[in-house]
Amino acid sequence: MIPTMSASAIGPMPTIRRLTPADVEATADAYLRDHWGDRRANLSFVASHPGMRPFVADADGVLVGTGVLCVNGPVGWIGTVWVDPGWRRRGIATALTQATIEAADDAGCRTLVLVSTREGRPLYERFGFTVETAYIILQAPGLAGPPVAGVRAFERTDLDAMVALDAAATGEDRAHLLRAFASPDSARVQERPDGSLGGFVVRAPWGGGATIAPRIEDAEAILHARRLASGSARRVRAGLLAENEAGLERLAAAARPVADGDTDHHRAAEQILDWLSARSTS
Ligand SMILES: CC(C)(COP(=O)(O)OP(=O)(O)OC[C@H]1O[C@@H](n2cnc3c(N)ncnc32)[C@H](O)[C@@H]1OP(=O)(O)O)[C@@H](O)C(=O)NCCC(=O)NCCS
Repeated sequence: MIPTMSASAIGPMPTIRRLTPADVEATADAYLRDHWGDRRANLSFVASHPGMRPFVADADGVLVGTGVLCVNGPVGWIGTVWVDPGWRRRGIATALTQATIEAADDAGCRTLVLVSTREGRPLYERFGFTVETAYIILQAPGLAGPPVAGVRAFERTDLDAMVALDAAATGEDRAHLLRAFASPDSARVQERPDGSLGGFVVRAPWGGGATIAPRIEDAEAILHARRLASGSARRVRAGLLAENEAGLERLAAAARPVADGDTDHHRAAEQILDWLSARSTS
């Protein structure tokens, strides 16, 4: 006979509380034990940056789950929802998600967004999130060649124009993140002949990043510059929203989507992630 274990036999529900800088090491180690990647740099950032509301599930001093809200003005992003495998299916992710939603409410967010894994999707759908769109992730090989005219390293004086472009494109206020992440090493901008800013790309210290460029030509120039910077031995990825048909079509020449599991790294790979959102009706 296989013994069944009730929640009370394992222990009481963990406490959901704010994650602090003192929790970073233990949380990063817990992720590593679950093969969820080395997220130490990201955790340090979310633990101390004022735009973030990180939560942890604390079972008598053992950290068994996380959930993080990023407040981008009227839009709140939920992410890093994770529960230790030994503690799953007990409502911990539900409680952590609830905490991020309440924090978003307190911060005045009117729209909540998140990118969901297949595993996480039922959890968010129970909260009323619906699939809004998907990211199509394209991949192309790096390149060798002359630099792209107009694309240059970020300078501090670019910030205001970047914040304005970003807000127009996303409806979010990500100034706090741009200020934290943009440096001459991590960001490039596309300067038009008239001196105005056509677009930019900013990388986060732990990888990933965002390209914002309202005009396709500017986006293409930035992606081309990224391919040159990466060199021909490596590859560059770009995630486009599924409805950005014009962008997808233009990039298809350089970065064709192919089926998952394709081993030819010099071709493109397509991966689709669900982007879920919930808007408050008030
Ligand atoms: C996805 C993930 C966060 C869910 O964590 P969790 O703590 O198991 O989630 P919950 O317990 O709140 O809900 C999971 C299931 O348990 C059920 N459940 C909740 N409380 C329960 C209880 N006391 N007893 C039994 N089942 C319970 C829920 O109804 C839900 O069922 P369903 O999804 O089959 O309908 C976890 O699997 C995980 O960390 N995965 C890896 C990281 C990941 O993919 N994160 C999502 C990023 S978007």
